Formats: sequence, structure tokens, C-alpha cells
Amino acid sequence: MLGAAGIGAVAGRASDAEPQVLGKDVVGWGGAHQAGIETDPPQAHAAFVALDLLPHVGRPELAGIMKVWTDDIARLTSGRPALGDTEPELAASPARLTVTIGYGPGLFAASGLVHRAPTWLAPLPPFGIDRLDPAFTGGDLLLQVCADDAVAVAHAVRVLTKNVRSLAAVRWAQRGFRSARGTQSPGTTMRNLMGQLDGTVNPAPGTTDFDALVWDDGADQSWMAGGTSMVLRRIRIELDTWDELDRPAREVVMGRRLDTGAPLTGAREFDEADFGAVDGYGIPVISPTAHIARAHHAHPGERIFRRAYNYDDPPLPGETSNSGLLFASFQRDVTAQFVPIQRRLDEMDALNEWTTPVGSAVFAIPPGTVDGFVGEGLLG
Ligand code: HEM
Repeated sequence: MLGAAGIGAVAGRASDAEPQVLGKDVVGWGGAHQAGIETDPPQAHAAFVALDLLPHVGRPELAGIMKVWTDDIARLTSGRPALGDTEPELAASPARLTVTIGYGPGLFAASGLVHRAPTWLAPLPPFGIDRLDPAFTGGDLLLQVCADDAVAVAHAVRVLTKNVRSLAAVRWAQRGFRSARGTQSPGTTMRNLMGQLDGTVNPAPGTTDFDALVWDDGADQSWMAGGTSMVLRRIRIELDTWDELDRPAREVVMGRRLDTGAPLTGAREFDEADFGAVDGYGIPVISPTAHIARAHHAHPGERIFRRAYNYDDPPLPGETSNSGLLFASFQRDVTAQFVPIQRRLDEMDALNEWTTPVGSAVFAIPPGTVDGFVGEGLLG
């Protein structure tokens, strides 16, 4: 039997380590690029909020929204309340808050600036696998709000949407999550709700490779230099039928092991997949229909930067789960990089049996700013 001293000793051991408080951590805001793209590791919580401009909004009002948001974001991301913040205490723990603003195709039409939209800015072409719900599709403006604390995200979303409510209305809001900060050692790839390590093959933020693949150089539209594009796909995952597969079958679908994330031709997560390798019977080790075989870039310039979040919403009547992936990718050119990959997956991908795109949106992400406002190069 454990004596009183024993219980005390156990309790004492448990409380020895003071939990680390991370709420005051800040990412920083001003610069050539908006925060929330290279921010690494991605924060634990995200909200993607699309807004539509109200009919009377033109270029001057849009510039007004950008000025308000730029000031709000500069304050909130540094742990200071927004002007007129009705819950200033909620701003005190930003927990690496970032806010990334995006422009949908409709914004350019509303402001008479269609000729200054990037050539790739349009809804994605239709795909056979799509079952798009208008409730998760399109939008004139995007806010991607990320932080390691869901309260910080909720407060920022509330401030930013209510401060422009006479000019723009929320079209949809989607919330996602990754593992809480501190749950795993830094640098660990996230797991999606299918149990897979998701994000292994990805250009590394801060490298010249990343810069060339993600940041716009201004060649098409000079105001976009330092900006990028975001594709957001809400992809439902059928966890009930996925549960029916045993582990080897699941690994064949992806072409990677579930435990280590290693390609079926390798031993460690970051080993390069060998798509030409065959077994003793001449059968490819990684099936040509495996997700990684189909998604792998056809040439180096086709790569994209994936920064996905899981979602797990209340089940609809009769369902056990309503889960999936908020697949967010950033790339310099949607048409040249994202679309060819999505076309290949649409034609054939073993994963398609368990995944369905139910929402889709494309946004131009303007560059960052140091002392102006976001979008000034377009609207100023
Ligand atoms: C629910 C839907 C999806 C799930 C669960 C999923 C999951 C995964 C996983 C587990 C990997 C392997 C590890 C890694 O490199 O990250 C992977 C790789 C990849 N996925 Fe997906 N994915 C999904 C949708 C998509 C979509 C829509 C695209 C783009 C159109 C995409 C593009 C890629 C790419 C480019 C790779 C790396 C391929 C390589 O070169 O090895 N995925 N995905």
C-alpha cells in the first residue's frame, strides 16, 4: 500500500517542473512578406475567414478596410489591444498570433482593378472529385488567423470582422488545429486525422528554394512583389471507411509508412522516395496510384508549400464524424504549380476513395508592409 509520504512524493514529482508560459511569444509583423506563411512551426490553431464586400464598397472604402486591419493586426500580433478593443485583456497573450490577408477575384472587380489582378487569380477549374458546397467556397477577402491559443484566434477574428462590418460581411469561417505547442519536439511533422505524417516533402521556409517557389517577383504585377497565392481546399475525410483498412493497405494508399512516415522504398521519414523501385516480382514498391506518386512534382518548378490544418466539426445527423483537412497551399503561380498537381490527383489517386473536396477558394496574398498598409501598392 502506498503511504501518505509516497503519495506526497508522487505529487511532488509531478509538480516539480513549472509549465512554460508561451502566451507572450510574438512572431513579428512588418516586413517584405506577410506573416503566417513562413511562420514555423505553424501555430496550433487557425481560423480561415472569408468575407464579401458589401455592394457600395469601391477602391477608397477597400483602402479604408486595409488601413484599419493593418493597424489592428500590428497591435494584436504584438500583444496590444486594437483601437477601441472592447475586450483588451484578451489581447495580452497573442501566443504567436499572425494574421494573413488575401484578396479573392471579386475584390478586383468591385474596386475597378481587374487589370491589376494576377493572371492566375480565378476560381480553380472544376474537378471530377469536387463536391463543392457554396458555404465553404469563394470569397472577396480572406483572413488567415493563426496562434498557439484558440482564445487569441477567436479574439483577433472578432475584432477584425466587427471593425469592418459596415463594409464587408462574413461569407464563411473554418477552424482548424494541429498538435498543441509543446506536445511534440520542435520540427516534428504534423499528423492528420488519418494518422499520417503530413507535410514531409515541403520546401523549407527561409531557403532560396522556398523563395523561388513561393514569393512573387513582381514580373506579372509589380505590386505583388513579395506576395504569393493561397489555395484553400476543405477536404472531407471518410474516417468510418478508412477504419476498415488494415495498416499495410493504408500504407499502400499513401506510399509511406504510418509509424515513421518513411517512403515504402526507404527507412526514414526524409529519405527520398524511389518511384522506380520494383520488388522481386517486378511490381512497383510504391504503387503508381499512391498519393505521393501522383502528387510528386513533374518538374522542380511545380512544387508548392503546404501548410494544412485538421478540422473535426460536430457530426451531421446520422454520422460519427465530420472531419478532414483544411488544405492550404502557397505558391507563386496557381496555374503553373497547384493546378497540374490537382489535375493528376483528380485523374487518379488511391486516396480519393476516402477524401472529397467540399470547399475551394483562391486568394492573392499581397506582400507585407513596414510602415504603410497591406495592399498599398494596389490601393494606395
Ligand atoms: C485530405 C486530403 C489529403 C491528405 C490526407 C494528404 C496527405 C498527404 C500525406 C500524408 C503525404 C505524404 C507526406 C508528405 O510529404 O507530406 C502527402 C504528400 C503530398 N501531398 Fe497530399 N494530402 C491530401 C491532399 C492533397 C492535395 C489536394 C494536394 C495538392 C493538390 C496534395 C499534394 C501533396 C504533395 C505535393 C505531396 C508531396 C508528394 C511528394 O513529392 O512526395 N495533397 N499528402
